[in-house]
Amino acid sequence: MTKSKKVILTGDRPTGKLHLGHYIGSLKNRVELQKEHECFFIIADYQVLIDHLDETDKVPQNVADIVLDYLAVGIDPEKSTIFIQSAVPQLAELTMYLSMLVTVARLRRNPTVKTEAQIAGVESEKDNIVYGFLGYPVSQAADILLFGADLVPVGVDQLPHIEQTREIAKKFNSLFGKTFNIPEALLSETPKLPGLDGKAKMSKSLNNAIYLSDSPEVIAKKVMKAYTDPTRIHANDPGHIEGNVVFAYLDAFYQDKKELNDLKEKYQNGKLGDVEVKKILIDCLNSLLGPMCLRRKEFEKDKGYIKKIITDGCERARQKGEKTMKAVKNAIHYDYPGLIS
Ligand code: TRP
Repeated sequence: MTKSKKVILTGDRPTGKLHLGHYIGSLKNRVELQKEHECFFIIADYQVLIDHLDETDKVPQNVADIVLDYLAVGIDPEKSTIFIQSAVPQLAELTMYLSMLVTVARLRRNPTVKTEAQIAGVESEKDNIVYGFLGYPVSQAADILLFGADLVPVGVDQLPHIEQTREIAKKFNSLFGKTFNIPEALLSETPKLPGLDGKAKMSKSLNNAIYLSDSPEVIAKKVMKAYTDPTRIHANDPGHIEGNVVFAYLDAFYQDKKELNDLKEKYQNGKLGDVEVKKILIDCLNSLLGPMCLRRKEFEKDKGYIKKIITDGCERARQKGEKTMKAVKNAIHYDYPGLIS
């Protein structure tokens, strides 16, 4: 095997179905990465506990939905390992050791924890934040280090966690000898897809998303209501492209860039109406999501198949985890040869 085959690890919190923003920002790239590399995709159910403690009953369905989304976009379980965080006990075990290598002050300063705490109505700098919330970057470091990831494909909001993972790994290696690979972030270059309402980000909580599992009818309805150019009253008024959600989506998904430039020009010259351009977008999204929808229907028919994929994925993850934990315990001298057989 050539060393160019890298270990890739990334994942999602099972808080709901995945949408077009996830696709363009991450899933599309994962489908490519699995062709060349060894990929692990973690469904991070521990992280739901951070700020959705009251919704744990929804997690099983969310996990099933995410796995279906993965399969629908073309993640291939023969090539990639899909697994659930809480089903791999070695992750909790490694988190225990790593938690000794991080100060509380360092965790309080993590900008992503800070922002998420604020949204949840607590403060990372104060004592009203629970221990597991403040400490979850350590658990995320375990996610990455247990699998020896070389690359962690993420958006910019996750960079502080990768940085913290690197610090923890280096600290461990300097104390106990080289045990961990030092991972690197693989930053997604795509800008965030705006929401249908024109807000900066497509998100479930803002209720402004197009889901990968939306039917053609739902997509058409959502696009028809999308935010375009508020200054445009008549179809022949010159239109604005900047801040126009419909064009932001066309930029992300319309294949023929030259044709798209012509459309933009026409729109700016008042020769293309909002309804027309929305119809073009609806066709474009349907040609992307149509094949995914068909694949999803096939997988949905066979519940046993999804179960098998998750069961196999978790088993593979535990096996790899066990190997790493052997090395970790050996490095710390906690394998107790002569005392435990
Ligand atoms: N924190 C990530 C998110 O909110 C999910 C995640 C959990 C993750 N563990 C990970 C991402 C390890 C990359 C690597 O999307």
